[in-house]
Amino acid sequence: MNSKSTYVYDPKSDIEVERLRERDKRTSNRRSFALDHLDLSDVQQILDVGCGDGVVGFDLQSRTNRASLVGVDIEPSILNKANSKSINGKDCGFIAGDGYQLPFRSSSFDLISCQYVLQHVSHPVQILEEMRRVAKSNARAIIFEWDDDVNFSYPYLPEELDKLFKAKKNLIHNKGGDRLIGRKLYHLLKASGWVEIDIKMIHDIWQGPEDRSKFLRGTELSLLELKPQLIESQLITNNEFELAIKQLVDYYSGDIFSVAFFFAGFGTNP
Ligand SMILES: C[S@@+](CC[C@H](N)C(=O)[O-])C[C@H]1O[C@@H](n2cnc3c(N)ncnc32)[C@H](O)[C@@H]1O
Repeated sequence: MNSKSTYVYDPKSDIEVERLRERDKRTSNRRSFALDHLDLSDVQQILDVGCGDGVVGFDLQSRTNRASLVGVDIEPSILNKANSKSINGKDCGFIAGDGYQLPFRSSSFDLISCQYVLQHVSHPVQILEEMRRVAKSNARAIIFEWDDDVNFSYPYLPEELDKLFKAKKNLIHNKGGDRLIGRKLYHLLKASGWVEIDIKMIHDIWQGPEDRSKFLRGTELSLLELKPQLIESQLITNNEFELAIKQLVDYYSGDIFSVAFFFAGFGTNP
């Protein structure tokens, strides 16, 4: 089994690389908040599953004394971007592989991360079990995810923008993914045998009018990348889509109170 067919984005496209970079501008401070209390200095071997262009692995590696980093992604072409960003003097490598069948011996890593991948797969427990197989005893797992239905804002979203966000969630669900995975992380980690589970929810609050257009670029790119599939699946019409994209920046730059949660799940391999 592999999850290539359930991934709604195209990791080969330039828009996808730009989308990942823009999205990280918005969420890297939340990841820092989740990681800053951890002492990772003695970590020796890091594995980042579904690494994309490598951003999480590099972040984790920079928090260690001299850990080696391996990133795995099912799409080989995105690994060139990761390779070109390697940090001078730090031991790292990126290889093509499937999270369902990681190309490593058992008990190889002492820190394994996975950001925004499990929401796109049909069998997240199998990937978490496979991560445990390649984890050493006492190794830690760090999972970062979303849950669309715990985010909220007031005044309520304009009708078309609300419809567009719901259409994106339904598209991912129809492909086999799960945009409500944040609330399930505790049980998913438990079902796959990780122990000492700890789930953190980190929030960003936007309040009052402000120009937030640069923070919305990642969201806009994600919607534009999915537009053909959303329309083909009849989840939204072209006119509704165009109106919603115009509403995106206007709404979030307006006089709103808006909260978005980021989930960080931690586990230990017994
Ligand atoms: C939303 S991107 C996240 C990339 C990176 N973790 C980040 O946060 O920037 C999801 C990545 O998971 C990869 N992916 C999807 N299914 C996978 C699988 N079964 N095994 C390995 N990688 C997978 C995709 O190719 C894509 O690069």
